[in-house]
Amino acid sequence: MIMNNPLISIIVPTYNEAQNINELLNRVHAALNGIEHEIIVVDDDSPDKTWEIAENRSKADSWVRVIRRKDRGLSKAVVAGFNEAKGELLGVIDADLQHDERILPEMIKKIEVAPIVVGSRYVEGGGVGDWKLDRKIKSWLATKVAALILNVSVNDPMAGFFIVKKDVYQRVKEKVNPQGFKILLEILYHANVAVAEVPYQFRTRLAGESKLSSKVVIEYFKQVIRLRSTNPVPEGLIKYSIVGGSGVLVDMLAFGISSHFLKIPVAFSGIISSQVAIFTNFILNDVWTFESQREQPLYVRFAKYEATCFIGIIIKFFVILLTVNIFRFNPYLANGIGIILVVFSNFIFSKLWVWKTQK
Ligand code: GDD
Ligand code: MN
Repeated sequence: MIMNNPLISIIVPTYNEAQNINELLNRVHAALNGIEHEIIVVDDDSPDKTWEIAENRSKADSWVRVIRRKDRGLSKAVVAGFNEAKGELLGVIDADLQHDERILPEMIKKIEVAPIVVGSRYVEGGGVGDWKLDRKIKSWLATKVAALILNVSVNDPMAGFFIVKKDVYQRVKEKVNPQGFKILLEILYHANVAVAEVPYQFRTRLAGESKLSSKVVIEYFKQVIRLRSTNPVPEGLIKYSIVGGSGVLVDMLAFGISSHFLKIPVAFSGIISSQVAIFTNFILNDVWTFESQREQPLYVRFAKYEATCFIGIIIKFFVILLTVNIFRFNPYLANGIGIILVVFSNFIFSKLWVWKTQK
């Protein structure tokens, strides 16, 4: 190993990982056999003296380096490691052996295809092992929120296991906010480059404990909002709303033709005009709003869109029922609130289900 010029620098953030760090170093070093590398342990002055164990290792093994910080924070630790890294590639892996280091060579190979490669639990062949249901739901929700609000189309944007080309990181590093846990999400959002994913099975932590508390979930949502507010409304939602507005006009027009000229009773005319508007909205969204996301057959998209609108009607029904009958809202106000919720619900289902791009 030539340590002055490693291909890859693997950053290992640690806080109280004394029982794991030696094993982690052995495993990563073995996995990278034949690839020039350095491993930088970034410890936040752990009370269990993880830094001391790592420092002892660095005396014996020249591929180990240690940064001991007097501050706390996972993303900040990763950034500190990146700033000291000598490799062309920057990698991150947890110290607690939950990430499968054996996929590192494959991740490095994939860097030729995409400048960011993520070890992913949510692609074919990946998994989360015996996670409790609530953690599965949280993780899934967080992923969907990222996809929807930030337009980050990676199946596992929360991962703490990834490789990024140094030049890509250099380009975005001024914009990356080192608060919180989700450094990858920050990089993905700002870099806006191709991403590849390599599946692995997330292992159970054997020693030490997780630092991911429910506070982290709140921080995550704050992070998403902060990222989003630099560019307030997603383009898709704007187009979707314009289409929706055109739908109201179409509905009115069709209603007039149906009830006035064709003499169809008004209640039925209401249903017919809605259907006409659903149809024109579908066409416009299909050729304009989600033009680049037409992956499923046309009839599937249309059937799903009909179902989406039906869900919207049900939502509106209950919103009006509750707000008017229980909270005594003005009916027009209730209908207005219903419309706003329906727009959001329809948009979410449209984007993630009707015109979905992944899996
Ligand atoms: N230096 C430093 N400072 N390291 C930290 C800190 C900190 O404040 N907090 C946690 N770490 C280290 C841990 O020692 C471990 O090596 C790694 O960061 C991940 O921390 P865990 O506490 O094991 O996190 P987790 O397993 O619950 O969460 C994992 O999954 C999340 C997605 O669900 C991590 O991979 C997260 O990065 C990931 O977002
Ligand atoms: Mn962990």
